[in-house]
Amino acid sequence: MSPFAHVTGWGMAVPEKILTNDDLARIVDTNDEWIVAMTGIHRRHIAEKGETTASLATKAAVQALAMTELEPDDIDLVIVATSTPEHLFPATACLVQDALGASRAGAFDLSAACSGFIFALNMAAQSIRTGAIRNAMVIGSETLTRMINWEDRSTCILFGDGAGALLLQASERPGGVLGCVMRSDGSGGELLTIPAGGSRYPATAETLARKMHTIHMNGREVFRFATRVMATATKEAAARSGLRMSDISLIIPHQANLRIIEAAARGLHMPMEKFVVNIGEYGNTSTASIPIAVCEAVRDGRIRPGDNVVMVGFGAGLTWGALALQWVETARRVTPARRRRRTALTWLAHVRSFFRRLWRRVEGLLWGGRARPAA
Ligand code: ACO
Repeated sequence: MSPFAHVTGWGMAVPEKILTNDDLARIVDTNDEWIVAMTGIHRRHIAEKGETTASLATKAAVQALAMTELEPDDIDLVIVATSTPEHLFPATACLVQDALGASRAGAFDLSAACSGFIFALNMAAQSIRTGAIRNAMVIGSETLTRMINWEDRSTCILFGDGAGALLLQASERPGGVLGCVMRSDGSGGELLTIPAGGSRYPATAETLARKMHTIHMNGREVFRFATRVMATATKEAAARSGLRMSDISLIIPHQANLRIIEAAARGLHMPMEKFVVNIGEYGNTSTASIPIAVCEAVRDGRIRPGDNVVMVGFGAGLTWGALALQWVETARRVTPARRRRRTALTWLAHVRSFFRRLWRRVEGLLWGGRARPAA
């Protein structure tokens, strides 16, 4: 029988610095009443100097790993879903893999905007279900506030920074990730985009002057699209998982706008109490919003063993999707000795990484542009 893919560890990281609606009102022509009424957002966390997509992702992943008995070398796959990668390449996931000391893991980024975490979790779960791998670290991490035009009041009020990670492990025990739908419609690509910085519009003085490296959004169209797809994707994911809507204990929606979540609740004929909502605190953290909401829901006792949960999201692309999973009791007592060993291993990974870089330099000096002679 093919193994099941269970969430066994989870973690989140948000910057300490907070930007309130009143702070924003000092930057652009807006006010707290409008932002709260139109979006449900009160404040958002903003990455400070030195905080990046990779550093937030690593913090979240370290927490998730610490909840399990796994060691960094046990991780087979690291996926970072992000729209704000550290660089175009290398993949942010590779930097996280190195920082974790996950020396046996393949690592790559997944770009599907705010749906990215659902897509990544599904990809990782399917790899586990086929038996190809056993342990996968799936992370959503963003520093969206680095891509914002702080003169555009229709977008700068929406976004925040943060990261969330779920660790998936193979198990013979039924449950875990049950079913998923992933959908895209590239005809809506221009509705939400960072136009420049890629192959179409490489960075030039003109692209910079025209602020083409920041988020451009047709808010009304994205809003209409989102309210259309959230309920249908949730129903499809439930049906694919053999669940009735009444079997679902909790919906964890992408946190883009409270009014979009309320529309989804109406479309599903479900009370708002069944939805996790934390947009007031973080704003829209794109791929990080769902795993952060998962962490907070578990912390608050809103997800219990045996619960069927649906995560649902939408984003640029256009993309949308939903994933149903059955939460099982996974919390294990990690002994202090094992915790110490893992901390030591993480430090060792940093030292190993340092010496690898150093050795590459030495090799460069020794062999120059020539290939190293075969041993
Ligand atoms: N403060 C005050 N007034 C504002 C602000 C602001 N921050 N922003 C816009 N307004 C004004 C507009 O100028 C407009 O004024 P006008 O009527 O005099 O022209 C009025 O408010 C209404 O503007 P709309 O843009 O039509 O407002 P709308 O009801 O569409 O709400 C919003 C705007 C909140 C952005 C909404 O469209 C929305 O949430 N859309 C979805 C966005 C989203 O979810 N994006 C993320 C997708 S996920 C991803 O992939 C990153």
